[in-house]
This record gives sequence, C-alpha cells and structure tokens, in this order.
Amino acid sequence: MAEHKLEELRQQKSKIQEGGGEKRIAAQHEKGKLTARERVNLLFDEGSFVEIDGFVKHRCVNFGMETVDAPGEGVITGYGTVEGKLVYTYAQDFTVVGGSLGEMHAKKICKVQDMAVKMGAPIVGMNDSGGARIQEGVDALSGYAHIFYRNTIASGVIPQITAIMGPCAGGAVYSPALTDFIFMVDQSSQMFITGPQVIKTVTGEEVTSEELGGGMTHNRISGVAHGVANNDEECILEIRRLLSFLPSNNMEGAPVFETEDDINRIIPELDDMIPDSPNKPYDMKTIIEMLADDGDFFEVQPYFAMNIITGFIRINGQSVGVIANQPKVLAGCLDINASDKAARFVRTCDCFNIPVLNIVDVPGFLPGKGQEHGGIIRHGAKMLYAYSEATVPKITLIVRKAYGGAYIAMCCKELGADLVLAWPTAEIAVMGAEGAANIIFRNEIKDAEDPQALRAEKIANYKQEFATPYKAAERGYVDDVIEPSSTRPRLVSALNMLASKRDSRPSKKHGNLPV
Ligand code: HXC
Repeated sequence: MAEHKLEELRQQKSKIQEGGGEKRIAAQHEKGKLTARERVNLLFDEGSFVEIDGFVKHRCVNFGMETVDAPGEGVITGYGTVEGKLVYTYAQDFTVVGGSLGEMHAKKICKVQDMAVKMGAPIVGMNDSGGARIQEGVDALSGYAHIFYRNTIASGVIPQITAIMGPCAGGAVYSPALTDFIFMVDQSSQMFITGPQVIKTVTGEEVTSEELGGGMTHNRISGVAHGVANNDEECILEIRRLLSFLPSNNMEGAPVFETEDDINRIIPELDDMIPDSPNKPYDMKTIIEMLADDGDFFEVQPYFAMNIITGFIRINGQSVGVIANQPKVLAGCLDINASDKAARFVRTCDCFNIPVLNIVDVPGFLPGKGQEHGGIIRHGAKMLYAYSEATVPKITLIVRKAYGGAYIAMCCKELGADLVLAWPTAEIAVMGAEGAANIIFRNEIKDAEDPQALRAEKIANYKQEFATPYKAAERGYVDDVIEPSSTRPRLVSALNMLASKRDSRPSKKHGNLPV
C-alpha cells in the first residue's frame, strides 16, 4: 500500500483523538472535568476500548454549521471490557460544539444502543452536553426521540447506566431518566428541564443551577439520581463497581464471585443488635454489612428516602439486592419516597435475576395529611405490585417491628416471599400494642376504676400475644425463628435452596403498575 494512504488514515485518526483541541481541553480540565476520551479510558479495562464511528460527520448547513468541523460529532462511541466483560459506551465530548446533540451525534448513540441489545451487554452513557444542537432544529429533537425509544426497548433487557458529568438540560434529561441508574458528579453536573434563566423569566424565581439540579439536589431531594461522586474519576470507578453486581443481560444470572468469607460465619454481635426498648433506634446498615461477604455493601440512593435502604451485597459470592427499613430515620416508616425507592429497586433486581433480601423493622406507613394528599395509596401500592410481580428468589428477614400494611408491603409470605425468617425480637401485628389497646379496650379502660393500670395491663397482654414472631410462625407465615447470630449461614443455605427457583406469571401484554 502506498505510504501516503496510511499517513492520511493516521492523520485523520489523530484529528479525531484531539476532539475540540488543546484550548477547549484545557478549559474542560480547568472546570475539574475529564475529557470524554479520558473518561472512556477510565471506564474500560486498560487498552480494551475500541472506538467506532469516529469518522462520522454532521450534515447540517444551517447558521454557519457548514464550516464547523466537529471531530467525532461530539460523542465518542464504542465498546470494551470492564473486568473482562463486554460493555458499550457513548461519551459526549463537551469540547466539540459543547457536546450538543444533532442528527448524526444521535445516530452514533443509537448504533451502540442497538449493538448493546443485540449482543446482550450493558451500556454506560456519559453525558456532558449543551443539549439539542440549536442549529439542527427538529433533526436534533428527532435524534433524542430515537434514543428515548431505544432506552425504553432496552429497559429490562440490558443494564443501562448513565453518568451525568456536565450540563444536561431540557428533554435531554429523559434519556438518563429512562435508564436503570444515574450517577452525578457533585458541583460539575446538572440536570433540569428548564434552566435558571427560563425559570426567572416565567416565574420570577431565582435559583442557581446547582441548587436547581446539581448532584446533591437529585440525590437528596428529587430522587432522580442513584449516586453522587466527588469527581469524574470516582464516578466512573463507582460505575465499574456497580457493573460487578449486575448480569450482562436479562437472560443471565447475576455474576458470582469466589469469596474467602466463611459461609458458616456466626455473628455473635447480632444477638445483641436489637435494643430492648422497641422505640430505640439502631443502624440497620450495621446489620447489612455484617451479613455481607467481606462487609461490602454498594448502596443505591444513599441520600434519598433514607428511611429505607437499598443496595447490593454478595452472600457466598452471589449478588443480592437488599431492601431494609432504617429505624434511625423516621423510625423506619414507609412514606411516598421510600415506597418509590423500594419498588423501583425491587423491579431492577427482578429484571436482572438478582435475588432480594428484605430486612424488616417497620412500624407502619407514615401517617399525615401530606402523605395522604401526596398519594401514599398510589405510591405504597407500587411496593405491593413490585414484590408480587417479582419472580426472583425473595427472602424476608423480620428483625423487629412488622406492623400492619407495612408488614405486607415489605414482602410477607403471601406476596411471594419464598422464605420468611424472624429473629426472636420480631413483633408481627396489625399495630403497636399501645395503639391496639387504646382502640380495642377503649370502653373497658374508660370505665375502669384505675384506667391507667388497666391500660398498662392490656398493653402487656397484647404484647405477650402479638409482639413476638411465634403467632405468625404457628400459622406458617414465618417459616422459622432463628438465632440472629446464625443469620448468615441461614441466608447462604436459603440462597442455595432457591437457586433453581422457576416461577411464572400469566401471559399478558404488560401489567399496569400504579405509576
Ligand atoms: C449548539 C452549543 C450548544 C447547543 C453549547 N454549544 N450548547 N452549540 N447547540 N445546544 C456550544 C457553544 O456555542 C460553545 O461553542 C461551546 O458549545 C461551549 O459552550 P459554552 O457556552 O462556551 O460553555 P459554558 O460556558 O460552559 O456553558 C455551557 C452551557 C451553555 C450552560 C451548556 O453552552 C448553554 O446554555 N447552552 C445552551 C443550552 C440549551 O439551552 N440547550 C438547549 C436545551 S433544550 P464555541 O464555538 O463558542 O466554543 C434541549 C431540548 C432537548 O436540549 C429536547 C429533547 C426532547
């Protein structure tokens, strides 16, 4: 081959590698951000990334775009391996026309989305973009719609993960929102439908973009995001870690790792974990970490609805999704946000064949006008729906309170829990003893010579009868009452027993989740 042909190829490739050029790359670094290429290289195992469509060019001739050279069309796409497993990516390049999305930029993303579904591999999007390329008009909008459609079709088939690493405005936020997990970078990423300037014009309200849609806003307040990192590097490493808990697609089981952690490990501290006083809080995360292989817990949405904990652990090397009430926050009550968070997480686990472990210490649904008017009925129903619909192995461990509707919503036997275990400290009843005595013995107490004494006696009776796991175990709602210290070996045995579980539902177009 003539040398000049190779030289031409090398020059073109080098131009693609340079992205928006030195000045814009320096500006990106000054903002504390990595470039799209640096991000891609961090995501994949060293040297494994293969770029495709680097030569793609836009076809826009409006508003001077005909003279704009946009290397890579403002987005790097391709595939590589993460811990040896195939993963696809697209990373928007802010140094090229602000990473804005036009017709051909969108086509590049759609191509890797299609490939990821066909090959059954996860896709990680790294967003850093000024949004729809304004010069391209409706072609840009069409590009977004193509991406949203593919996000939806791929949902439940392959894991889709988005990192927000810069601006993400307007309808552009909806591709991330359609994916399984969103990670943001604190102080350098924002998501909003309408930015601060539009808000000021329309409503007069003044707000900074960080307050409106920064990393902590979406992690703590809106619940749109599932994690937040201090910088790009930390964000990408978290995504690599998350991928290690997920299968490549819905036809595979979740990955199983060799573990050195003893499967027969007895944890004596668990015997003293539950305080004697039923109203005294403790940190549920301690229990989760004690049960996990090597104490490794990957928490999902750690800052949102902290009254419920969701995340992944491994037990005997096997990925397990944990949903646990947190007595430290709102006494572990279920509310609107907790219901949404838990239901979504259960469905994520079910899509991807990850068994769920429900650790229950729940006094009930949070009472109040705000909750009722906010639609707790509709939101709480999502938990019932998600657990009933899920066919993955479901293990429920009741450690303390399991009251009323919340007992059911945390996956009792009848919602399909395959195994319900309880600690001797479990209290399974319609409501707490105080409330129950006030209602059912109201008249007796009122008419008593010493109402206080009778009330105390009735409470004690109710506690004796129901504030134990044994009534529920007598009827088979609880399969076994176990010593807390032996919980880990019991979970190992349960997961082994359930490994061959096959469960199906009547065929239908799709259910009608109360969204
Ligand atoms: C075309 C864009 C662009 C866009 C940025 N650029 N956004 N070009 N279309 N949407 C270009 C800039 O002109 C600039 O080009 C370069 O990218 C870098 O942008 P700067 O403004 O210099 O960067 P910075 O100061 O960091 O500000 C970033 C920004 C700002 C906050 C994102 O660029 C901005 O407000 N852009 C417009 C955002 C927007 O309104 N987008 C439309 C949202 S609506 P030069 O050549 O000067 O370097 C939407 C609808 C989607 O997206 C609907 C989906 C259904």
